[in-house]
Amino acid sequence: MVQGAAISVLFAVLAASLEAVQAAQPVWAQCGGIGWAGDTTCVAGTYCYQYDPWYYQCLPSPSTTTSSTTTSTTTTKPTTTTTTKTTTTSSTTKSSTTTSTTTKTSTSTTTSTTTTKSPTTSTTSKTTTTTQATTTGAYKLSDSFVGSSWLTGFDHMAIEDPTHGRVNYTDQAFAIAQNLTFVSKDTIVMRADSWTTLDASGPGRNSVRIQSKKQYTTNVLVMDTRHMPEGCATWPAFWTTLVDNWPANGEIDIIEGVNDVSPNQSTLHTTSNCTMSATTMAQTGNLVTTDCDYEVNYNSGCGIQVDKSLSYGPPFNAAGGGCIWFWSRNDASVPAEVKNGSGAVSPATWGTPYANFVNNSCDFASHFGPENIIINLTLCGDWAGNDAIYPSTCPQTCIDHVNNDPASFKDAYWDIASLRVYE
Ligand SMILES: *[C@@H]1O[C@H](CO)[C@@H](O)[C@H](O)[C@H]1NC(C)=O
Ligand SMILES: *[C@@H]1O[C@H](CO)[C@@H](O)[C@H](O)[C@H]1NC(C)=O
Ligand SMILES: *[C@@H]1O[C@H](CO)[C@@H](O)[C@H](O)[C@H]1NC(C)=O
Ligand SMILES: *[C@@H]1O[C@H](CO)[C@@H](O)[C@H](O)[C@H]1NC(C)=O
Ligand SMILES: *[C@@H]1O[C@H](CO)[C@@H](O)[C@H](O)[C@H]1NC(C)=O
Ligand SMILES: *[C@@H]1O[C@H](CO)[C@@H](O)[C@H](O)[C@H]1NC(C)=O
Ligand SMILES: *[C@@H]1O[C@H](CO)[C@@H](O)[C@H](O)[C@H]1NC(C)=O
Repeated sequence: MVQGAAISVLFAVLAASLEAVQAAQPVWAQCGGIGWAGDTTCVAGTYCYQYDPWYYQCLPSPSTTTSSTTTSTTTTKPTTTTTTKTTTTSSTTKSSTTTSTTTKTSTSTTTSTTTTKSPTTSTTSKTTTTTQATTTGAYKLSDSFVGSSWLTGFDHMAIEDPTHGRVNYTDQAFAIAQNLTFVSKDTIVMRADSWTTLDASGPGRNSVRIQSKKQYTTNVLVMDTRHMPEGCATWPAFWTTLVDNWPANGEIDIIEGVNDVSPNQSTLHTTSNCTMSATTMAQTGNLVTTDCDYEVNYNSGCGIQVDKSLSYGPPFNAAGGGCIWFWSRNDASVPAEVKNGSGAVSPATWGTPYANFVNNSCDFASHFGPENIIINLTLCGDWAGNDAIYPSTCPQTCIDHVNNDPASFKDAYWDIASLRVYE
């Protein structure tokens, strides 16, 4: 249904630009937006892209066909959870919902915030509430990334990959023009190029890395993901850090994996004197490495792998730590407030997380600070491309595979319905 609406608008846009060939705006020029009185058409070979309601720009048309990227013309900037509710429900295909709570600056602060807030909330709303309802509203929605707001709330980072991947991270205009980044009303797709054979002595495969403009401290992130990158050589990550103050502000890798081998590990990377102990962690996942110090074990950090069959035990005791939950799309235990994009969430009611980083032998206040949210997809590099790690079942060497087999990167893409930030 979204498709149909988008297509009719698309034709309208194309018709307009054919009629006004002479007066059209050149590539990169503005072509619309609130308050814009100038020309709203773009020269041949370009199209008018709506970044947000205030700014439209003529971008080069994708080389393959003139279509789909233009569907973004129909998008607005949804900020309400009502919009999100509709879109999430309408797209229940093969997918997963991933959620994380990251308690960064000070664990004790967060905990006391939660508990002080709870009585207030219950008094004002429902007096006869259950335990679940008393914690309702512990974290309030502060940002909602859905559709075009990804393009205004996140920057595409055309930087060198610090983990030495065989990638060329592209800027936003290029990524959109090549359809590496595709945004529609309820979708952002970010992918690696799957059509170019690379010159072995030239740059790596085009890919995308985006970073939130804002930084967040104590927060809950709810990301609704339909698809994450897969395939030999891939190293996708959904993570938070402050690049300019790494590792002092810490790094939290929420979803990270390589070569399809363990696409479900969550890891902390910190300065020294921060370790984890499985015996004190109420979680369903398995602690695989215990020292979070970046100088230990070649910066492998302290990592937790998701157990295959997720269980949702007794309500999770919110005292201390950063927690990560994972629900499969059709999982009966996805909390309603997660499913419906509620304006507030109470992770204490969500059951046992798969990863529960606790502060017993790590002082969170001195190991974590404000962090950006980053989503990236690199290929090979320090982890995925390590000879000892790259699986023998994968073709060639990691680098040769990236250079020579473009078509095998068809599934190397993120498809994300929404990301909500609660603070
Ligand atoms: C761009 O990517 C989207 C999402 O994968 C896809 O639906 C669309 O057909 C692509 N557009 C072009 C022009 O290839
Ligand atoms: C861990 O967090 C708890 C709960 O906030 C707090 O009481 C405790 O002092 C913290 N422990 C350390 C070692 O920081
Ligand atoms: C991509 O993500 C991983 C996090 O797992 C990080 O180590 C790496 O530096 C990231 N690359 C870039 C360019 O951000
Ligand atoms: C690498 O990305 C930049 C955009 O950030 C682009 O201009 C350049 O053409 C890309 N390199 C290749 C070889 O595609
Ligand atoms: C997740 O990690 C576990 C190890 O904890 C592994 O056995 C399992 O296969 C992984 N799940 C997926 C989907 O790869
Ligand atoms: C979402 O579900 C929660 C928990 O059931 C409920 O309190 C809230 O009102 C719902 N919000 C929306 C927008 O439907
Ligand atoms: C290590 O952290 C603990 C608290 O978790 C603190 O008591 C101790 O002084 C720290 N040691 C060093 C060397 O910083």
